[in-house]
Amino acid sequence: MSTAANASGSAIGRLLSSTIGLKVLMAVTGFIWVGFVLGHMVGNLQILLPMPADGPHAINKYAAALKATGGVLWVVRFGLLAAFAAHVWSAITLSGRNKAARATTYAVHTNIQAKPSSYYMLVSGLAILGFIIFHLAHFTLGLVQPEAAGHYLSNGMHDVYTMFILGFRNPIYAGLYIVSNVLVGLHLQHAVSSMFQTLGLRTPKYRAYVDFAGPAISAIVIVGNVLMPLSVLLGLIGGSVPGS
Ligand code: HEM
Repeated sequence: MSTAANASGSAIGRLLSSTIGLKVLMAVTGFIWVGFVLGHMVGNLQILLPMPADGPHAINKYAAALKATGGVLWVVRFGLLAAFAAHVWSAITLSGRNKAARATTYAVHTNIQAKPSSYYMLVSGLAILGFIIFHLAHFTLGLVQPEAAGHYLSNGMHDVYTMFILGFRNPIYAGLYIVSNVLVGLHLQHAVSSMFQTLGLRTPKYRAYVDFAGPAISAIVIVGNVLMPLSVLLGLIGGSVPGS
C-alpha cells in the first residue's frame, strides 16, 4: 500500500505512507468510534427503563426509529465500517513499522525495551474486532441465538427488548459481554489520551483535562455497558419476559 501510495505521489498517498499520517488516521477513525460507542451505550441504556403499562418498551421504539431512518442508517453503517477498517489497517501497519525499527535498534543496543502499550493495544484491539463480529452475529443478524432474536410485537415491530433479556439471561453470553466491554473500556483508556496527543491537543494548557478524559471515558463505558448484562443476569430487569 505504502509503495503504491508513494508511487502515485498524491498528497493523500504521501500522507498515508508517513508515520504521522497513519497516526492521524488512527486518531480520527478512533474518535469516530468513541463517539459511536458512547452514543450506542446511551441508546442501549434505555433497557433499564420500566416496561410501560401499554405500548412498546422504549428500547423497541428506539430500535424502530433507527431502522426508519433507512438510507441514513446505511450511510452511518458504511462510515463506521470504513472507519474501523482504516483504524485496524493503520494500527497493523504502524505496529509492523515499530517492530522493524526495533529490530534495527536491537542490532546495535540490545538493552532497549519494547514499548508494551502498543503491543497491548494491538492485541486488545484485535480481541475487540472478534467481539464486534460475534456481537453483530448475535444481535444484528440473530444467528447466535435465533430463539432470542426472532420475537416480534403484534404491530410487526422487532422485539429488541426480549432479544436483549433472553440474550443476557444466558450466563455465558452475559459473561462474554462483560469481559469484552471491560476490554473495550481499557482499550479506550489509553486510546483517548494518545488520540489527543496525536492531534496536538495535549498542550500544557489542556493536559490535565486530556489526561482525565481517557480514564473517565473508560470508566463510563465499562460501568454503562457492564450494567446492562449484569442487571439481566441478576434478575433486576426483564421480569415481564417469560423464561428462556
Ligand atoms: C453491553 C453492551 C452492548 C449492548 C447491550 C449492545 C446492544 C446492541 C444491540 C441490541 C444491537 C442491535 C440493534 C438492532 O439491530 O436492533 C447492537 C448493534 C451494534 N452494536 Fe452493540 N451493544 C453493546 C456494545 C457494543 C460495543 C462495545 C460496540 C463496539 C465496540 C458495539 C457495536 C455495535 C455495532 C457496530 C452494531 C450494529 C449497528 C447497526 O447495524 O446499525 N456494541 N448492539
